[in-house]
Amino acid sequence: MRVPSLRKSLLLWVLIPLLGLLALATAGAFYVADKSATDAFDNALLDPIQALSQHIQINNGKPQITLTPESLRSLFTDAYDSVYYQVALPDGKYALGNLGLPAPPRLGEKAQFYYASLNGRDIRVAAMALHLDGSDDVVIVQIAETLIKRDRNLYETLLIMITPALVITLAAVLLVSYGISRGLVPLLKLQDEIQARSLNDLRPVPLLHVPVEVRPVVLALNNLLANLAAAIEGQQRFLANAAHQLRTPLAGLQTQVELALRMDMPNDVYEIFVRLLDATQRATHLANQLLTLAKAEPGARALTQMQSVNLANLTEPLIGLALVQAQAKRIDLGFELSATQLVGDSLLLTELITNLIDNAIRYTRENGYITVRCYQLPAGAVLEVEDNGIGIPEALRARVLERFYRVDGSPGNGCGLGLSIVDEIAKLHGASLDITTPEQGRGTRMIVRFGKI
Ligand SMILES: Nc1ncnc2c1ncn2[C@@H]1O[C@H](COP(=O)(O)OP(=O)(O)OP(=O)(O)O)[C@@H](O)[C@H]1O
Ligand SMILES: [Mg+2]
Repeated sequence: MRVPSLRKSLLLWVLIPLLGLLALATAGAFYVADKSATDAFDNALLDPIQALSQHIQINNGKPQITLTPESLRSLFTDAYDSVYYQVALPDGKYALGNLGLPAPPRLGEKAQFYYASLNGRDIRVAAMALHLDGSDDVVIVQIAETLIKRDRNLYETLLIMITPALVITLAAVLLVSYGISRGLVPLLKLQDEIQARSLNDLRPVPLLHVPVEVRPVVLALNNLLANLAAAIEGQQRFLANAAHQLRTPLAGLQTQVELALRMDMPNDVYEIFVRLLDATQRATHLANQLLTLAKAEPGARALTQMQSVNLANLTEPLIGLALVQAQAKRIDLGFELSATQLVGDSLLLTELITNLIDNAIRYTRENGYITVRCYQLPAGAVLEVEDNGIGIPEALRARVLERFYRVDGSPGNGCGLGLSIVDEIAKLHGASLDITTPEQGRGTRMIVRFGKI
């Protein structure tokens, strides 16, 4: 199917009629110019007829010219064209001069002009019936000339007419294309505005600079965006509620299982309860991760509380909380925290940091090391969590951000949501998440850059 182009149809609808009119105007002007030139040349042919008429007599019923051959020749000399003449009686008899000039279509005392040909050359002929002075005698005088100067004049007129027409055509094409491009600028701006949006940005497109003609389209789009935002928000609210509702019974279940585990029971029942506790903890972790994800998603933007946060102050206690988990694997959990200021939601940032540290501990072998860093750069803040653990293959670094994705054979019982949460929270703060390999070539270094770094 052909894709309609506004630019093309505007160009066609404006330029083709414009150029058609221009061609018509040029043709009209050319016709007028050519006609007046032909009239002028024709009139000039009458002068030698007048001059000749003074020197014609009828002797014994035959016409005679009383001019010397030199005078006759000078009468019919022209700078460009060959000139012919013929004098004869009205019945064509006793013709003098260049015999063979075609007779005029009609005859009268008014001069007749017509095209004819003589000896294979095109000529213009002027013919008239002349009353000789002082007698009743009538002679037919014809003067003809070749078309050299007329053709030349025609050619020059054509050139004079066509040159400006071509210039105007070119200017019209350029101006119209430029005008159309200018006219389409607001559409391109609109395209940029929509293209520059992230998936999270469902705000209505501002109508301020949108041309009137495109407004209905943008209004319809805004309507769609609003519906979409409402649908996403509804979905998120449901997810948050479901996760929240799940947590209470799960907490109850966990308490009961923990209580049961303290009681005396046969070994095989004990095993079952241990597995039950593990499953309950997994389910609780999943519910917590889902709840966090729901809070971090774009639809929850309105609920975030952005304020000035010192990343170092926020991170230090979280490292304290992770120490037990790290010590259990004899991992050296260190930190290099310098005062780092940024604007963010501290609850969400807490989730981000916790998930990164949690991953580092989970995916680092015993006796490994982890370093948590934060520092300020002129353009923004940086948070790094580095470990010398099992690392993430480069080809999977984009995939681990997907929800529920875990690298095959990953240890532990994670649910694959941690890095999605980190990524969402980073996006919500306008930050970027980079997964790199530490300088010594082993493990993982997660870098979150806030601001325009
Ligand atoms: N520091 C890390 N070192 C090595 N692999 C990692 C690291 N962090 C994440 N991964 C890999 O990326 C996968 C996804 O991580 P993510 O945190 O999203 O999920 P999870 O840890 O499996 O589950 P959850 O965090 O939701 O409990 C992990 O399964 C693991 O394979
Ligand atoms: Mg994780």
